[in-house]
Amino acid sequence: MEFKYLKIERKEDITFIEINRSEALNALNEDVLGELNDCFENLEKEKSNRVAVITGQGKAFVAGADIAKMRDFDPTKAYEFSNLGQSVFNKIDRSHIITIAAINGFALGGGMELALACDIRIASSKAKVGLPEVSLGLIPGFGGTQRLVRLVGTGIACEVVLTGNQYSAAEALQMGIVNKVTEPEELLSEATKMAKAILSRGTNAIQQAKRVIKLGIEDSMEGGLYQEKATFSSLFNTQEPKEGLSAFLEKRKPNF
Ligand code: CAA
Repeated sequence: MEFKYLKIERKEDITFIEINRSEALNALNEDVLGELNDCFENLEKEKSNRVAVITGQGKAFVAGADIAKMRDFDPTKAYEFSNLGQSVFNKIDRSHIITIAAINGFALGGGMELALACDIRIASSKAKVGLPEVSLGLIPGFGGTQRLVRLVGTGIACEVVLTGNQYSAAEALQMGIVNKVTEPEELLSEATKMAKAILSRGTNAIQQAKRVIKLGIEDSMEGGLYQEKATFSSLFNTQEPKEGLSAFLEKRKPNF
C-alpha cells in the first residue's frame, strides 16, 4: 500500500513506519491521521506483522496536531478532529502489533500523544517531548491527558500538561515518560534490538500479554487478575507453552 506521508519498510520481520511531512515537522492533519489508520488496518490483516517501529523524518518525530488547520475550527470541527486522533491512537494502542516509538526529535502535543499510544518509547538524546497545548489555549486532544496520567501518575502528568513545558530526553527518562535514551545514530538499532527480543518470544504470549496489560489499566485489580489467569490458562490451548517449557528443560532455544 502506497502512502503520501508514511514510508513503510519491512526488515527482518519488523515494520518501520516513518512519518514524513517535512514542511510542517510531521504535524498531524486529517490526511496523516487517515494514513496511520489505514496503515494499521492493513498491517493487522496479516498475522505475521508482530512488531512495528514508528519514527519521524528529519528533526521531528511529530511536532503535534496541525496548528494551521485548527485555527478556524468551531466546536463541532474540533470535536471531530479530537475524535479522529483518539480513534487512530486507540487503534495503535489496542493493536495486536507491538509498537515501539523511536523518538528522533520533537514529540510535542499530538506527537507525544502518538508516542504515548505506543507500547514502548525509545528517545534519541536530541529528542524533546512535551504537551504544549495549554500555551495555545487548548488541552491535549488525542488521548494525552488520559494516557500520560496512567503512565507516570497524577503529579508528573499535571506538571507536563499544566506547564506546557518541553523536556529533554534525559528528563523524560527520569520522569518515566520514555523507557530508554540512546545516541541519535543508535536510535533505530536500539529499537531494532528491542523489536528482535520481542519477536524471539512466543507469538501468542506477547500479544496476549499486551492485551492483558492494557485491559488491566482500564479495569479493577480483581478484573485484571481474572483476565490474567483466564489468558494464562488459554495459552495452554496452543503449542507455545509446550515448546517454551520443553526448550528450557532440554537446555535449547525455543522454536516458536
Ligand atoms: N502544526 C503545523 N505546522 C507546524 C507545527 C504544527 N504543530 N509545528 C511546526 N510547524 C511548522 C512551522 O509553522 C514551520 O512552518 P514554516 O516553515 O512554513 O514557517 C515549520 O513547521 C518549521 O517549524 P519552526 O520554524 O517553528 O521550527 P523550529 O525548529 O524553530 O521549532 C518547534 C520547532 C519547537 C517544534 C516549533 O515548530 C513548535 O513549537 N511547533 C509547535 C509545537 C506545538 O505546539 N505542538 C502542539 C500542537 S497542538 C496539539 O497537538 C493538539 C492536540 O493534542 C490534538
